[in-house]
Amino acid sequence: MNYNLKRLEGEHVVLIPTSEVGLDKELRRTYRDWLNNDQEVREGIGETYHYTDSDIDDLFNEYMKGKKELHFIIYLKTPTGLEPIGDISVVVEGDELTPFNESHRDQDRIGYLKIMLGRERGKGYGTEAAKLLFDYLFNEQKFDKIFSSHYSDNEASRRLHEKLGFNQLYIASPDGREEMFLEITREKYKRQKDKN
Ligand SMILES: CC(C)(COP(=O)(O)OP(=O)(O)OC[C@H]1O[C@@H](n2cnc3c(N)ncnc32)[C@H](O)[C@@H]1OP(=O)(O)O)[C@@H](O)C(=O)NCCC(=O)NCCS
Repeated sequence: MNYNLKRLEGEHVVLIPTSEVGLDKELRRTYRDWLNNDQEVREGIGETYHYTDSDIDDLFNEYMKGKKELHFIIYLKTPTGLEPIGDISVVVEGDELTPFNESHRDQDRIGYLKIMLGRERGKGYGTEAAKLLFDYLFNEQKFDKIFSSHYSDNEASRRLHEKLGFNQLYIASPDGREEMFLEITREKYKRQKDKN
């Protein structure tokens, strides 16, 4: 499936497809730093691994292919230009979708949300980025459903999902830490938007 990703521009942030961004030394260093050294990121996404430069290259090679994951770098608009502050994606093929096998029809266009801000958290940018992506996926790419999950104790992520209009599916602890599994349909997202 070819998704023809494009830039998604909001008031404060711009999402640029990683296939367009590429990976230079600076972004490799920044991304690795977020994953390895930011405790809130590590706790939020349940990361225990420490990444090498070559691991980051492998991750970006996959992101840039845009086949299994539609991946964007989140940039903040600043007076001096665009600053990378995180990433957001939907996984369209792979293990992340396995827990949701029962919850969609074969012909549905589905994805699994991933989001991480390594900078500038708690200022509304995560919500803005997710809304930009969802408008695009549901309206232009005709997605039917997006799945997601967050640790029950991740308050920022819990609130983010609630604001977007996700419905809770079930609670489980696949890695020993309690996680909430959720879904949102195109219709529910549109209804939620009309309410806001
Ligand atoms: C989760 C995350 C993407 C949210 O993005 P963000 O830009 O920080 O969140 P926002 O500023 O858009 O806020 C979303 C909501 O969460 C609340 N919130 C933000 N940070 C919070 C915190 N540290 N504690 C409690 N609530 C918080 C906000 O108040 C807002 O709710 P409100 O509108 O009712 O006030 C971001 O914090 C992050 O990347 N965290 C680390 C990695 C992670 O946890 N990823 C998600 C894995 S499921």
